[in-house]
Amino acid sequence: MSSHEEEQEPHPQGPPSLKEMSRRQFLTYTLGGATAFMGAGAVLPMIRFAVDPILHKKGEGEFIKIAETSKITDEPQEFTFELKQQDGWYASTATLTAWIRKNESGEIYALSPICKHLGCTVRWNNNKSYPDEYHCPCHGARYTKVGKNLEVAPKPLDQYKTKIDGGWVYLGDIVPNTEAKKEA
Ligand code: FES
Repeated sequence: MSSHEEEQEPHPQGPPSLKEMSRRQFLTYTLGGATAFMGAGAVLPMIRFAVDPILHKKGEGEFIKIAETSKITDEPQEFTFELKQQDGWYASTATLTAWIRKNESGEIYALSPICKHLGCTVRWNNNKSYPDEYHCPCHGARYTKVGKNLEVAPKPLDQYKTKIDGGWVYLGDIVPNTEAKKEA
């Protein structure tokens, strides 16, 4: 027997032939790939769940549909709405109020009712001694129709960012008052 023939003789317990190896490899790769795919499908949402709240503070920068523009008059009206918030892993729903009106130019704006003195809630036209003003029941702060501070409070009432779209008023984040400056 030549050395060449010896090399070709299959060993009963030796390594698998090239054909068998390919089949095994194919199964290994297929099962491995499927397992990795399923594993990734399970793990990726968990990673996203863990990381997403850190990246996004839900509720910020969003606009909420509040009222039809046709319902807004020059007299301030109170609108209450809910804002879903997500701060990290903590989800909550805040109930917010806005006083909305049209100014003399027909522009719609919305005031926050949070008093700039110590944070009580103001209301429109709720003190007979000071008609057509916002009044705070806690320490008597007063504000004009555009939110300008008259007494006690150090600053004007804040405003909501306002967007008009398709005949509806949308409100966004609370920002410093710009309406009072127009009348200054
Ligand atoms: S909190 Fe409004 S006047 Fe003090």
